[in-house]
Formats: sequence, C-alpha cells, structure tokens
Amino acid sequence: MTTVITFGTFDVFHVGHVNVLERARELGDKLIVGVSSDALNYSKKGRNPVFSQEERMRIINSIHCVDDVFLEESLELKGDYIAAHNADILVMGNDWEGKFDHYRELCEVVYLPRTEGVSTSEIIDGILSYFNKNSVEGASS
Ligand code: CTP
Repeated sequence: MTTVITFGTFDVFHVGHVNVLERARELGDKLIVGVSSDALNYSKKGRNPVFSQEERMRIINSIHCVDDVFLEESLELKGDYIAAHNADILVMGNDWEGKFDHYRELCEVVYLPRTEGVSTSEIIDGILSYFNKNSVEGASS
C-alpha cells in the first residue's frame, strides 16, 4: 500500500486542482490531502479564502480520487503530518520545486507540473474586476 500525501488551500475549486489530485493519486494506492486552514491561508496569501475550511475540506473529500482529508494548521508541521499518516510520497505542485527536498529523509518527494492558465487568485481577480467595471459603468449610466 503506497500512501500519497499532498497539501493546498483548494479554494474556489478548479480544473488545476482536479489535475493535481488525480495525478497524485495515480502515484499510489491512497491519497490523503491536507487542506490549509483559514488562518494559515490568511498568513500565506493575506486574504481569507472564499470558502471556509469546513467547506473546502468537504469539497475535497467528495472528489473520487481522494481517500481522506485533514486540516493543515501550520506549514512547519508538514513532517509531523507525513509521519502521522505514514505517507510514502509527498506531492507538491512545481511552484514549490526544491522547497520540500528536506522531507526526502521521511518519504519520496514529487513535484508535479502546474496546469497552465488557471489559478484561484486569477479567478477571484477576474470576477472582482468584472463586477467593479460593471458597477462603475452602471453608476455612470
Ligand atoms: N495547482 C496546479 N495547477 C494550477 C493551480 C494549482 O497544479 N493551475 C496545484 C498547486 O500546485 C497545489 C494545489 O493545486 O499543489 C493547490 O493549490 P492552491 O494554492 O490551493 O491553488 P492555486 O490555484 O494555485 O491558488 P492561488 O492562485 O490562490 O495561489
């Protein structure tokens, strides 16, 4: 039994998230996902996620290739999470290339290429600029 573990915020779930989860699952027999807490996301990205940690965990848990989810409360605890879940492989997107190589003493570390052209931040920015533009146009008409 090969256990794969991966981490992320997975806010405003999109096809890049599906791709990384499916590819991570293909590397083993079981996929466990650490979903970043709201507080951790705020400290990393400087904004609250659109969907709460409970909603994001529920969404990720409903994905066919995900076997289990847990809340990632600190970036510093990755080693503890890997050990607690007996993970054999840590998967990260290649936006993190090289950043987690020190966990090779605990498990295999694999960086998967990101899906091009989609990200949660870009989706949120696009929606905000659409509504800002339309509310300005609406106000002036
Ligand atoms: N991911 C991916 N391809 C994308 C976007 C994300 O493979 N186009 C992967 C990330 O590498 C990570 C996981 O999905 O392994 C969760 O990433 P997350 O940071 O939650 O999503 P992003 O869309 O990158 O969010 P943001 O734009 O806020 O950074």
